Amino acid sequence: MIIAFLGPPGSGKGTQGKRLSEHLKLPHIATGNILRDEVMNASSLGLQSKDIMDKGNLVPDHVASGIISDRINKPDCTEGFILDGFPRTIEQAKSFDTLIGKTNQKIDAVFYIDVSDAILIERLSERRICRRCGWNYHLIYAPSKNGDKCEKCGSEIYQRSDDKIETIKQRLKVYEEQTASLIYFYKQQQKLFNIRGESTIDRVFKEILEKIPGK
Ligand code: AP5
Repeated sequence: MIIAFLGPPGSGKGTQGKRLSEHLKLPHIATGNILRDEVMNASSLGLQSKDIMDKGNLVPDHVASGIISDRINKPDCTEGFILDGFPRTIEQAKSFDTLIGKTNQKIDAVFYIDVSDAILIERLSERRICRRCGWNYHLIYAPSKNGDKCEKCGSEIYQRSDDKIETIKQRLKVYEEQTASLIYFYKQQQKLFNIRGESTIDRVFKEILEKIPGK
């Protein structure tokens, strides 16, 4: 099963993607997480991407598609996977279809998480993330029970460098200009499932589970 999460920055793609990954026992593949690891390791991809990410812009399509191509070739992806933050442009979506079409695979469902801009800004500015396992927290709505340490693995939790108000606004603009058209793209293919993203994390997750095709 191949599932993709689509939605603006802060809509809950990572939060729900991780939960669904644990529930379905399928890998959670988040291009943003992979890129942040590359930045942290100061690899050549990380060095090329850091400035782009810090400004709230997208890395080039061939870079994002290359990351996904390498990742889904790993053995843990044979039963399927959950995409978070990819595809993010029509170009990426088309090249992904071509890639998985070579092995007769297709995307089964795209969950579009709908949240208004005012809530997105509040969520992103208060978000914290575990440096090791990537679990997401929110200082008000989902604080770690372990203070400034991750309640899952005990590591430090931190604020992302692109979660500053000016960068958040740029990310929202980039989403509208380059990503939102994917809603129509997947709707036309009858793969799009609308998810009301403004209720609690548990309620959003319940709605996602109810809408998984074939479940
Ligand atoms: P990426 O890491 O993908 O960031 P994003 O799309 O901006 O999304 P976020 O991770 O910010 O938000 P989210 O929707 O996952 O929300 P979350 O669950 O954390 O990308 C970062 C950068 O990498 C991009 O800007 C770009 O430069 C590059 N990049 C990545 N992929 C790329 C691609 N394919 N092509 C080109 N460039 C790419 O939730 C947010 C907060 O809200 C958390 O604190 C959470 O606890 C809280 N929360 C979640 N749900 C709820 C709820 N229901 N109620 C209350 N609080 C909630």
